[in-house]
Amino acid sequence: MGSIVFSVSFTVNLASAIRNTNLISQHSIQQIQSRIDIIEIIGSYVKLKKRGANYLGLCPFHNEKSPSFTVSPVKEIYKCFGCGKSGNTIGFLMDHDKLSYTEALRWLANKYNIELEETETSPEFKAQQQVSDSLYIINNFARDFFSNALFNTEEGTDVGLSYLKERGFREEIIKKFQLGYNPSARDEFTKAALNAQYNKELLLKTGLVVQRDDRMADNYRGRIIFPIHNQSGKVLGFGARIIQSNNKAPKYINTPENEIYVKSKILYGSYFARLAIDKADECLLVEGYTDVVSLHQAGIENVVASGGTSLTTDQLRLIKKYTNNLTIIYDGDNAGIKAALRGLDLALEESLNVRLVLIPDKEDPDSYVNKIGAEAFRQFIQSEKKDFILFQLEIALKDAGTDSTKKAAIVNQVAETISKINKTTEFTRRQDYVKQVAEILRIEESGMNALVNKFIRERIAKDVPPSPVNENIAQSEGQQTTPATDEAFNLFNQDELHEQAFVRSLVEFGLKRWDDEHSVAQFLFSQVDENDLENMIDNKMLVKIIETYRTWFKEGLEPTAKSFLYGEDQQMNSTIIQLMDVNAEISPNWNQHYDGHIPTREELFREEVISTLNYLKLRKIKRLIIENQADLEKATDPEEQLIFMQTHQHLKEMEIAITKKVGTVIYK
Ligand code: UTP
Ligand code: MN
Repeated sequence: MGSIVFSVSFTVNLASAIRNTNLISQHSIQQIQSRIDIIEIIGSYVKLKKRGANYLGLCPFHNEKSPSFTVSPVKEIYKCFGCGKSGNTIGFLMDHDKLSYTEALRWLANKYNIELEETETSPEFKAQQQVSDSLYIINNFARDFFSNALFNTEEGTDVGLSYLKERGFREEIIKKFQLGYNPSARDEFTKAALNAQYNKELLLKTGLVVQRDDRMADNYRGRIIFPIHNQSGKVLGFGARIIQSNNKAPKYINTPENEIYVKSKILYGSYFARLAIDKADECLLVEGYTDVVSLHQAGIENVVASGGTSLTTDQLRLIKKYTNNLTIIYDGDNAGIKAALRGLDLALEESLNVRLVLIPDKEDPDSYVNKIGAEAFRQFIQSEKKDFILFQLEIALKDAGTDSTKKAAIVNQVAETISKINKTTEFTRRQDYVKQVAEILRIEESGMNALVNKFIRERIAKDVPPSPVNENIAQSEGQQTTPATDEAFNLFNQDELHEQAFVRSLVEFGLKRWDDEHSVAQFLFSQVDENDLENMIDNKMLVKIIETYRTWFKEGLEPTAKSFLYGEDQQMNSTIIQLMDVNAEISPNWNQHYDGHIPTREELFREEVISTLNYLKLRKIKRLIIENQADLEKATDPEEQLIFMQTHQHLKEMEIAITKKVGTVIYK
């Protein structure tokens, strides 16, 4: 087969695309989607050769000598088996040409001569977009001004640069992080900015300039400037460090919250760290700007800073985009430990593996790496890494001494912490903790387990509606009210797969007929109530996919896997790619059922739909049983006890009925 190279040149007025903030209608997106020829588009960037059903080329995202970059025209996705990058045509344009989602859509619309239907964005939204754009522009101007002041003015080199060099920062790292210096005169920056015609109000918004005695003045006078970038390298704001410590002025002044600087979503250094985090599959978290820069200089690049405050959920999610392994490196002093521990529960809820390293007293990562050197520091991190939960326990126990009330409180606290590891796929991990913690505390493992389960149930109880009570069902013979806990948890390892299978059924078969009147999607939505979705499916992304499907479906669109591939949410995108990529293995039972002919999923879609649906229903009932069981144990009033027993009976019967129905389809 010959190779195809397209030398079409596409021109599009990007400037106008960027300024246009209108939303592109779903209809237009579908139109674009139906026209996209992934081979043509990617082929204009990468020399592709046909290999069977796919095309192969040299990956444009990493250096390689033999091709591992694969494009599937059927699935409309690309995947590099070398660096793991994958996505659809839009994702490719976004990654390769650094376009935003809408820019990529406009680019394609332009190429295929598709007229875009746009929904007017609200004037407020437009205004906000304009402010954001302007703030970025001013920040760029400021970054360049400060950098120039640092390197090319007398005061800058004498005061700023010499300070940085004294601290051990080399010029190349100073340039990489775009550090700068704000002159000490009253308003040098302000004058330059006003001269360049920047708007006063916007300048005030950036925090670079303040109003002082009716005049505008520089806010960061005589300070070292640390630009703060977002993940794609745009400057969101600045941290400004005083040079001579001084009790009256704060050590750092940071950009005030504005349209683009939202502290809770920022991790300093994420732009410079993201590739290294990906590669190391670990993110190191430190407190300060200087810690990040120093570690980079020492060749440790997978590091970001939280800015000295406890972590937020948004920051944790940012980390999770790249890795599940978070190692927190904090000062060994008390404040450092406390700050570190505050982030713990949130991190566990986000399913991150959290480890902790404490730097010896009076040092921070910056000073310590300078003291002992890069290699020793690296080894220190490796050998000192401690599991977060066990560490927390250790500290608390030391603190409690022999005080038995305090000890009891610790047992409760650690149980609650462990209960935050609550994703169905993390059952084993949770049990490991229960075991270890019980050992350390010298209490029975079963007792610890019960306590952890209690906290889990309390949380589930908050979300799950009360179970139906059917008073007519009598207690049948031989049925015991044994705790269902273990039995239910055994199922948990398969849970995620079944959730995925459910979503796959919906997306893949949703438009097929279920019966004369209903499509598969309609059937599924009639079975899983909108309000109950989150109780049926644990994985939030899968819930989001189902909800998105439902919305589109209600709007009369006909969603398929491809519709999702062209959505704006890149995470949703890759989830769908994974779902559709995974060819669910069919259980061996099928052979016996179907006399040697192994039917395809396509042929058996009804069975698949029913079996995944029943599995999820069954799981929900099992959970309700556990919960009811707990209530029963707590109940003291005989009448109350009776009601809980009857509920149990009723749930058990539902369980048995569904168990019978759960099909023979088992996913491995
Ligand atoms: P540190 O006081 O540890 O500063 O505060 P540092 O980063 O080690 O700086 P050097 O090494 O003394 O120059 C940690 C982080 O807390 C935030 C900053 O983000 C800082 O990097 N901080 C600290 C402030 O925002 N304001 C302050 O006044 C102090
Ligand atoms: Mn420091």
